[in-house]
Amino acid sequence: MIHQVLRMGDERLLRTAVAVEDVHSAETVELIADLKETMHAYKGAGLAAPQIGMGLRVVVFGFSRNSRYPEAPSIPETVLINPVLMPLDEEMEDGWEGCLSLPGMRGIVPRYTKLRYTGIDENGTGIDRVVSGFHARVVQHECDHLDGLLYPMRIRDMRRFGFHDVLFPSQADIDE
Ligand code: NI
Repeated sequence: MIHQVLRMGDERLLRTAVAVEDVHSAETVELIADLKETMHAYKGAGLAAPQIGMGLRVVVFGFSRNSRYPEAPSIPETVLINPVLMPLDEEMEDGWEGCLSLPGMRGIVPRYTKLRYTGIDENGTGIDRVVSGFHARVVQHECDHLDGLLYPMRIRDMRRFGFHDVLFPSQADIDE
């Protein structure tokens, strides 16, 4: 089922999500299907369970090509449950981010450049990856949602936060 994505200001986006105990439960299976369907419907790069009002530690992300981020390299489509993120060094880099919970907005957000993440997928199989660049950025953004954090809370220079069509007039037709 395609859900309406909660928008910033909704108190449910500020809660800390709880770990999934059974990936095969009917509730979890339905949640994963709904997250995927909703992410695709909105052409998101990723989506976290709290964004559809479910306080569980589940995120989905990945695409081969994404109209919201036309320059971005592909990321394997992934269901990541109970994620743990470990930055591999102190290095951070700035990059543009958007979020389906802030339609039409973009901001420059510092993120760890390189990290390792672990968790389990929808079959209960372990995931253990070392990633960098946009892949690392997307994982950090999505997992922040599980701790009640939205990307504007990470912005250091609020002058680099605004409406997508104003910041990037040549891409104004991009589907938000
Ligand atoms: Ni988001």
